[in-house]
Amino acid sequence: MNLDVIILGAGKGTRMNSSKAKVLHSLGEKALISHVVDSSRGLDADNIVAVLGYQGDAVRKVLPEGILIAVQEQQLGTGHAVAEALGQLNSSEGMVLVLLGDVPLVTLETLQKLLNESQGYSVSVLTAIVSDPGGLGRIIRDENGELRKIVEAADATDKELDIQEINSGIMAIRKDDLIGWLPKLDPANNQGELYLTDIVELALKESLKVKAVVCDDPEEVMGINSQFELARAERILQKRRVKDLATQGARVADLDRLDIRGEVQIGKDCFIDVNVVLEGNVKLGDGVTIGPGSVVIDSILGSGVKIHAHTVVEGAEIAADSQLGPFARVRPGTIVGVGAKIGNFVETKKAHIGAGSKASHLAYLGDTDIGADCNIGAGTVTCNYDGVSKNETKIGDNVFIGTNSTLVAPLVIDSEAFVAAGSTITTDVSDGALAVGRAKQKNIDGWVPPSKRKQR
Ligand code: UD1
Ligand code: CA
Repeated sequence: MNLDVIILGAGKGTRMNSSKAKVLHSLGEKALISHVVDSSRGLDADNIVAVLGYQGDAVRKVLPEGILIAVQEQQLGTGHAVAEALGQLNSSEGMVLVLLGDVPLVTLETLQKLLNESQGYSVSVLTAIVSDPGGLGRIIRDENGELRKIVEAADATDKELDIQEINSGIMAIRKDDLIGWLPKLDPANNQGELYLTDIVELALKESLKVKAVVCDDPEEVMGINSQFELARAERILQKRRVKDLATQGARVADLDRLDIRGEVQIGKDCFIDVNVVLEGNVKLGDGVTIGPGSVVIDSILGSGVKIHAHTVVEGAEIAADSQLGPFARVRPGTIVGVGAKIGNFVETKKAHIGAGSKASHLAYLGDTDIGADCNIGAGTVTCNYDGVSKNETKIGDNVFIGTNSTLVAPLVIDSEAFVAAGSTITTDVSDGALAVGRAKQKNIDGWVPPSKRKQR
């Protein structure tokens, strides 16, 4: 059967108190409307049409290819928005599934269930029973429990407002019926809008069958109208994602204190401590542990990698059995070899750190290629920027860089070289050489401190 999906996202979202269109607000680092698009793409629909209006060009940019766009210049109501969408569709056969760009948590399974149950009905409305129905549309049933109509909160009587069954806004509608009803919608209501919800009564007038399908999980159909609701939805989404990860076998210290803002792949026996944020594409090998307060963004961590507390890793590849942190900052372009160590207060950027090499404390390693088994002393700084361009420091294998060394790039330090502590190195150091780049120490015998000098 022909199925078209219509996603409504033209409104400004005044209650968000934001200059950004509501459907562009981010939930789990993804625009609200993208959540809806992604679940609808699992439905095998013939067409997906997004109705855009307020900041439509910006919204269009976050949509994947293949989504049709209908422009609703003036937001005259959900019924008007659906009418604009129909203009993008050729056939009048089959079903239309209407989704709201501000109802992002609905799952593919629920949409499939609604579509399955909608067979033989002109209108099927997805509803939920909620404790605080607030400004949502109320579901009015007759004495037999059959759907009679949907009343918007703005138009409801006090008695109707007490009803706890609400309209999710999601509906499966027979397309040829819908085409007939849309011109009949009347804005004579308290918001002066063309309500899509009025089609329930129009269907019943024609003795067509309508039905309300209750969604067991009210969290799925929650609408986002305010920053408060967005924050609540974020917690719900995070709980789902963390549950998925734990179900896949990650050991998570606290289900409520891990945030996943992207896609995470895990191996066996991983452990994630409290207050960790995983963002973008993150891949964890077997036995990876991530310490409390750490942030890992778009990175690959090999098997046995240990990230100690309060470490930030972004755009990095960390090979097996390496250790980072506590308090390390590993920036994009860092590639760490097997069994290496980046310790506390060490910052790396575009740095290749060879297998077994160690920078255990207080260093800046930028635009550098360090070989295997090197020891980078505390306080080592690669001076990669000369005020105009970035320059590279190349260090061979088995090199010892003494504490508090300043390595002025461009610079090559060959394998087995030894740089004395406190050196400023400006010229290349050859294989096995000792480089000392500091003022010679002078000791002055018999020196008397000023406080002990006699007044003359
Ligand atoms: C709507 C429903 C209400 C339901 C609630 C669920 C109607 C009349 N009301 O109310 O019964 O309980 O959703 O969350 O359908 N939009 C457009 N063009 C417009 C108007 C709205 O594209 O002209 C889009 C908005 O961008 C939004 C969605 O439709 O994504 C819902 O609009 P909104 O104004 O938030 O409707 P509610 O008052 O929440
Ligand atoms: Ca809404």
